[in-house]
Amino acid sequence: MLSIALSLSLCIAPAPQDGPDFLTEVWPIFEARCIECHGPRKHKGKLRLDTREGLFGEGAEYPPVVPGNLEESDLWELVNLPADDPDLMPADGDPLEAKELDLLKRWIEAGAPWEQPEVHLPEPNPLAVPTLTDEQRAARDAALARLADKGVYARRVAADLDVVEVSLALGRKSVGDAELAWLAGLEPALVWLDLSGTSVGDSGVKALAGFKALRRLNLARTAVTDAGLEGLAALPELTSLNLYGTAVTDQGLEPLAHLAKLRRLYVWGTGVSAEGARRLQEKLTGLVINRGGTLGPPPAPAGPINESCPVSGKPVDAAVTSAYRGRIVAFCCKDCKAKFDADPESFAEKLPPSEEPTNETCPVSGKPVDPAVTSSYRGRVVAFCCKDCKAKFDADPESFAEKLSSPLVPVNSRCPVSGKPIDPTQSVTYKGRTIGFCCAKCKAAFEADPTKFADAIDKDQ
Ligand code: HEC
Repeated sequence: MLSIALSLSLCIAPAPQDGPDFLTEVWPIFEARCIECHGPRKHKGKLRLDTREGLFGEGAEYPPVVPGNLEESDLWELVNLPADDPDLMPADGDPLEAKELDLLKRWIEAGAPWEQPEVHLPEPNPLAVPTLTDEQRAARDAALARLADKGVYARRVAADLDVVEVSLALGRKSVGDAELAWLAGLEPALVWLDLSGTSVGDSGVKALAGFKALRRLNLARTAVTDAGLEGLAALPELTSLNLYGTAVTDQGLEPLAHLAKLRRLYVWGTGVSAEGARRLQEKLTGLVINRGGTLGPPPAPAGPINESCPVSGKPVDAAVTSAYRGRIVAFCCKDCKAKFDADPESFAEKLPPSEEPTNETCPVSGKPVDPAVTSSYRGRVVAFCCKDCKAKFDADPESFAEKLSSPLVPVNSRCPVSGKPIDPTQSVTYKGRTIGFCCAKCKAAFEADPTKFADAIDKDQ
């Protein structure tokens, strides 16, 4: 949505003879080194470098860039400060390289020609989880032992990671706010917590504010209301929140606007309105909100899920990819892709764990899944229709594995609303298939009345 709004205001300054090109040479420096703090999501020092007004600071006392005048350009001064100066920009990482400084210098001297760039914010890395100190590990292990005694599902997410996942869902209504005290000792380690179907309410949810590492929280069918959600604003890493079947309303979503990393929000069967969902979506770039109805679970992220090649272990080239079990996998080179394609299962273990279920029908019963009932299997999250099916699957996953291939890659190449080529990040799941759109506006038009466009999709395949 953002890139559309920005490209509408596209504005091209006359190209000078000798300066570097803004979009291809200068903007990549800002995008790589400055935009996380001075872009759409954060405005450190009240400065945005992705807009004309921000960059040229019209009317400001110290404009960041004064075209043609290096000395008057505050930005130039700040990127050239000595390495130990606290005001040096960028505020994190290494100073800009000589080559980058030279490009900036020549660009400002040539009159700083500007065009509206498209802003791509980096996705949070799902594997960037904390490591613990020895003391924290001891507290974690004591808590895991205590939970195991009580029959609670609690374990490390992966053998080589310090972090843990806990599900209290099996305890159903016998688990309430008081039982959350069992989690003491897991504060820095708990990344996934499933409380679905329990009787946990507002005071329990507020108490979760101490679990700062939480990424994925399932509160489906709990007693939480708007008041409890205030506590979640204190969870900076939260990427997925399931509120399915709770009494939450639009008002409860307001504190969630602080969760810059939130990517998935499930509000099916709640009091959240389309308008309330849209308001939150406007504040949080990259958030997918599932309001249910005919629209199934949200599609998998359209970018590659991995940063290192599952075959060679080297950094990936994002242009060399395969679709595998509903996720996009990137490789370092064509050769590795070919090896993977020939026998994907043997490399599946090397892929990062997925955080969201990728299947919509239960691999055991064939019925629609309850996103709250999941197991992890070969690095992905598998959902089931009920606990019984989950138990059958857990006992012998291999015998159900082939039912799991349901790629969430769009089935269509042209937008069913506009007829233009699709942007795979703009998609919804409709009747078990992933449908792509050219832009967020067309996606919204489809969601408002999918039947109107169904013919166009069938023609495209
Ligand atoms: C990690 C966050 C971070 C990054 C990355 C970063 N900045 Fe900053 N920047 C800040 C903060 C914080 C301030 C406010 C400092 C203050 O007010 O004391 C600031 C202030 C500025 C200012 C002065 C704004 C004003 O008018 O007071 C400029 C210009 C600036 N940054 C440019 C850049 C450029 C150019 C880059 C990339 C090369 C960059 N920054 C990268 C955090 C960052």
